[in-house]
Amino acid sequence: MAHIKDVLNSMDYGPAPEGNEHVVAWLETHKAGFGHFIDGKFTDPGAGKSFKVTNPADGKLLARVADGSAEDIDRAVSAATRAFKSWSKLSGHQRARYLYAIARNVQKRDRFLAVLETMDNGKPIRETRDIDIPLVARHFYHHAGWAELLESEFPGYRPVGVCGQIIPWNFPLLMLAWKIAPALAAGNTVVLKPAEQTPLTALAFAEICREVGLPAGVINIVTGEGDTGAALVAHEGVQKLAFTGSTDVGRIIRTATAGSGKKLSLELGGKSPFIVFDDADIDSAVEGLVDAIWFNQGEVCCAGSRLLVQEGIAEKLYAKLRARMETLRVGSPLDKSTDIGAVVSTEQLERITSLVEKGRAEGAEVFQPSIAIPGTGTFFAPTLMTGVEPASTVAVVEIFGPVLVAMTFRTPDEAVALANNTRFGLAASVWSENISRSLDVASRLKAGVIWINATNLFDAAAGFGGYRESGFGREGGREGLFEYLVLGDGKPKGKTAAMGALVAAPSATAEIVAIDEVDRTAKLFIGGKQARPDSGYSYAVTSSAGKQVGLAGLGNRKDIRNAVEAAGKAEGWGAATAHNRAQILYYLAENLSSRSEEFEARLRAMTGASKRQAAEEVAAAVRRTFFYAGFADKHDGAVHSTKSRHVTLAMNEPFGIMGVVCPDEAPLLGFVSLVMPALATGNRVVAVPSSRYPLAATDFYQIVDTSDVPDGVLSIVTGNAAELAKTLADHDEVAALWNFNSGVDAALVDKASSGNLKPVWNGGSPDWQGGDAQGREYLRRATQVKNIWVPYGE
Ligand code: NAI
Ligand code: MG
Repeated sequence: MAHIKDVLNSMDYGPAPEGNEHVVAWLETHKAGFGHFIDGKFTDPGAGKSFKVTNPADGKLLARVADGSAEDIDRAVSAATRAFKSWSKLSGHQRARYLYAIARNVQKRDRFLAVLETMDNGKPIRETRDIDIPLVARHFYHHAGWAELLESEFPGYRPVGVCGQIIPWNFPLLMLAWKIAPALAAGNTVVLKPAEQTPLTALAFAEICREVGLPAGVINIVTGEGDTGAALVAHEGVQKLAFTGSTDVGRIIRTATAGSGKKLSLELGGKSPFIVFDDADIDSAVEGLVDAIWFNQGEVCCAGSRLLVQEGIAEKLYAKLRARMETLRVGSPLDKSTDIGAVVSTEQLERITSLVEKGRAEGAEVFQPSIAIPGTGTFFAPTLMTGVEPASTVAVVEIFGPVLVAMTFRTPDEAVALANNTRFGLAASVWSENISRSLDVASRLKAGVIWINATNLFDAAAGFGGYRESGFGREGGREGLFEYLVLGDGKPKGKTAAMGALVAAPSATAEIVAIDEVDRTAKLFIGGKQARPDSGYSYAVTSSAGKQVGLAGLGNRKDIRNAVEAAGKAEGWGAATAHNRAQILYYLAENLSSRSEEFEARLRAMTGASKRQAAEEVAAAVRRTFFYAGFADKHDGAVHSTKSRHVTLAMNEPFGIMGVVCPDEAPLLGFVSLVMPALATGNRVVAVPSSRYPLAATDFYQIVDTSDVPDGVLSIVTGNAAELAKTLADHDEVAALWNFNSGVDAALVDKASSGNLKPVWNGGSPDWQGGDAQGREYLRRATQVKNIWVPYGE
């Protein structure tokens, strides 16, 4: 007689299809096609062009959907602009009521939405039912709460305006929720473009908006392809853009919006490591891998697609994994026992197929289980590639399919180096029973989300988003709300005009002089040392009255590169305790204070400021330095309330190397206001002082020198701010850039930043003496949040 275990192992499940009659009936009522949802109404589906939407599992037509033109986008933005006037004026409580109603309505229709999503995208019903749709409802509930709390929790902030949102096809309704919920909670209105492959749940959502009586124009949905998205990006009536999708398109959007002042958040691709140490619970790690790379057919931006396994257990892990792969079920997405459904489109299937072939050609060993794969539809077998070199295509490129590539490492250091050896930085998963090792590795990984002994956990209360070329900005939780808010009343600040015309370059008439033997030039400050500019030239600094008051080094590209290189060697600054940094900044403040008179005299000579004005600027600079010294150990992270039996740590990490371009109008205070928060949070800074009045900053390096600031932590490069800013924006090792010099063309730096997709803050001209030139906003902008999920329990 067969043993019961054998029976269980060989057991063939019968099909368990989820009924889809209600969805089929709904599609039937929309047989004429779907129009756009603009200003609370659906447009005529017969008007304009349209495209087909199909079910990837069987290739059958589901619906015809309008293909949005630039005019459609324009009408949607106009509707959103009109709606913003009243929507933004509602109390948080009133907006919360709408969001609660949406959340409840999603729950009421959860089965319908799950089936529709599965039919449109090809993902298994088990996932849409248990993961996508519940998370959608959770997101609206969570943000209903934020709407309620907005006035008390975000004092001084206001909504941005009309938000353009562009989402991908891998989690269609969930990505909609991630974008719409915080936008509405914060008082914005929205024009959203769903992915062309999967627009249907967004249209069903539009019906929900109508049912709950959401005011017309608050949400507008325009369907279409990339050009429809591009029209939304280009529209002048849009104040904020939120995009999730490929890094290539993210880069296009960064370039297209350069200099527009539009707020931007980008959630892009990844090649996230899944690191297994030899002390890990291997069976759990195998199950983790199933969730990491075969969840959603591997079409997940944070998929654990790079398995890094410690050498000693590699073969054992591969063997268990291959055995587990033999039990995965690939098939009808509507079947409740399906593990892996259909890939979203034939294009995506071709892309996956060709990358796997490329991996084979490059020498990888390709394993696919001998399980049944449907003969029609866009199905791809779960795949494991071993013997992969770190530099091979499949180890570097995002495959976005059910394909795992595996490599081995020997030591934790090597694991970290391999894990970080990528342009991306979205997520990582660390498996070890040694919590100390896990957290150590987590702290060293350059990624926005880290799961310890777990993977692909999401919750509305925790921020999600990337480091490096995985984009910037966060979705979810408190940090995500900031993406939909701006500080202040939005009125331009007038105070700076008093200084006269502002220049980003040494004035055209500035005398350029070769540096000679008897050199009175204020040097650059690079790597803790005074340095002659590479150009060998200095320029005359003239006072506002036209008198020459000194010479400053004419820094160039090479000097910036040297400064960045020196900063690269000063990594210890970010790893030092905040207490340590605080002490050094206190010391700096004291030293600045004791030399107040010199700085006052310098300011007066350069800017023609009165004695009182100069004294006020220096005093404010001293106070501000103390302020950030005080804050160095208080820019705390958070422990988010996410799932049960978890601590989800949100840690504020420094970017690493930051470029800071300072204003002309407050030559000392502006410099201090920007450099100090960046240093306090653990960044190393390459600062470009005012071009016109650089001497207060060059005097400053004597203070840096005597205050125990480690070499390379702060470099100061004088010269043409516009040219130096561009070099900083271009530089791949510079991870974030602040530009507060109104003479530097924001478009130029924005554009140049698209190389490594560094966040750029073109901060304008705050009132440097006032409250908006100091505070948490600066600390927040100097850090990126890393969320570390630590589950506990046996
Ligand atoms: P995509 O980035 O082209 O599409 C995402 C969204 O952007 C869609 O709504 C699309 O219509 C829109 N779009 C395309 N071009 C645009 C433009 N110039 N301006 C504004 N919007 C534009 O991604 P695609 O082509 O669907 O997939 C290609 C690869 O991208 C995938 O294989 C995967 O590697 C990656 N990807 C990453 C995602 C993520 O969640 N991070 C999601 C989807 C794709
Ligand atoms: Mg589809």
